[in-house]
Amino acid sequence: MLPRQEWLDEARKLDWELSYVRPEDAFPAVQSGRPWLEHGAWKHWDEPFRTTFGEYVGNQSAKDEAVFAVREALGRLRDYRRLDPVWLNALKLHGATLPLAEFAAVVGNLRAARFGRDSAWRLTATFGALDEFRHTQIPLVLLHELVKLDPQFDWVHRFYHSNNWVAIAARHLFDELLLASDAIEFAIATNFVFETGFTNLQFVGLSALAREVGDKCFERMVASIQTDEARHAQIGRQVLEVVVREDPGYAQHLVDKWFWRSWLVFAIVTGFSMDYFTPLEARRASFKEFMREWVVDQFGRSLADLGLSKPWYWDTFIESLDWYHHMVYASAYTYRSTVWFDFVVPSPEDRAWLRAKYPRSWPDLDPVWERIVERWRAADVGNDFAVHGTAIVAFCDLCQLVLCGGTPKRNTATSLERAGRRYIFCSEPCRRIFEQEPERYASHECLVERVLAGRAPANLIALVQRYFGLTQEDWGKDIARGNYAWLHRQAR
Ligand SMILES: [Fe+2]
Ligand SMILES: [Fe+2]
Ligand SMILES: [Zn+2]
Repeated sequence: MLPRQEWLDEARKLDWELSYVRPEDAFPAVQSGRPWLEHGAWKHWDEPFRTTFGEYVGNQSAKDEAVFAVREALGRLRDYRRLDPVWLNALKLHGATLPLAEFAAVVGNLRAARFGRDSAWRLTATFGALDEFRHTQIPLVLLHELVKLDPQFDWVHRFYHSNNWVAIAARHLFDELLLASDAIEFAIATNFVFETGFTNLQFVGLSALAREVGDKCFERMVASIQTDEARHAQIGRQVLEVVVREDPGYAQHLVDKWFWRSWLVFAIVTGFSMDYFTPLEARRASFKEFMREWVVDQFGRSLADLGLSKPWYWDTFIESLDWYHHMVYASAYTYRSTVWFDFVVPSPEDRAWLRAKYPRSWPDLDPVWERIVERWRAADVGNDFAVHGTAIVAFCDLCQLVLCGGTPKRNTATSLERAGRRYIFCSEPCRRIFEQEPERYASHECLVERVLAGRAPANLIALVQRYFGLTQEDWGKDIARGNYAWLHRQAR
């Protein structure tokens, strides 16, 4: 057999001059993306892993075996029963929002595997597509076991097939990011911004917390997934370098747009998990500290290396590190029956920790929890709806999430009129993203419009049951049903 170095480049870099079809027909801009450049502009495309198919298959099968060995040893129901029940809600949140999004990422990678402009890019994207199958299947199979423990785990599979409001928001993001993007936008949005900027947070940061919590299975699962992400994320930087050279304004636009959209989803999925669902004794750093290290510093540095600026809303983003996930958590707590996982009221010790970690924002957020605690003191144990919102809230017409921008004193919601319709946004960046491509977003109906049009019930309980598909058994509750030892409820 030829040694690897003698054939690898021949196999990876296999492009040729097309003779009976025009390159712009073989690689139309609508699929390949813009700027549309002659192949010469891409021919130096490379990435450091330089994996062969044989190596790929061998490595992946060894990784799968390692994950399944951990599952055999530590992934049984009795192992999960030993964990703090609050932590399991991080698994429900992760399991519902990410594995089937990874399945959509198969499609994005396959588009690049066909329409990426250099053969080495296409090959790396082919491995990326295979990776994403693995990232769908492993969590589905590992978490399926937990349905026996708690019916809310059924939402790991059900979530994206529902009209739950979080699913509407997640589809709005992931359909555009993973299914509708051309190969260049996919490379910059998914491979560079999402996978280089943010998945480290969930897959490395949260994996470290899982170890502290004692959840070996989750720890090993996400660490195994991250080794794949780190490889195919390389596509992003290599594509971005070419786009920065040829059309720096467009490169900056894509980074700005996708950084904001990715931030909002990770603020919820990772922010809730780190600052609320990780038991206090297992916490090492706050979500904000993880964000500072993994995203603000590292991602900020890669932007500078590439000659790009920080997104135009950087100050707003830095400000929101102190507020956004706390605002959404408090709102979602108040509407917990609308989601598929349970919430915990931060204990006095949790609140002291949050105050220490978020000295700028917690003094304004703490009174919200004080009121919730007062309401629970006045209510009977188990009477969740005594401490629950009833009116349907409003959602952002871009991110489709509740209008939680800003602070309890100053919400940053902003609106705009277009073709006789009024649109409302949670923040300036969401509004700007919409204004830059209104034809892409204008026809989407947010939940409130579906209610106004009579397609979804206006009564909250009917909405939760008939439109979101939740039942009394699996909708979100207060994890202690209001029965916290520290709450000192007076006997009545
Ligand atoms: Fe993935
Ligand atoms: Fe990925
Ligand atoms: Zn928004």
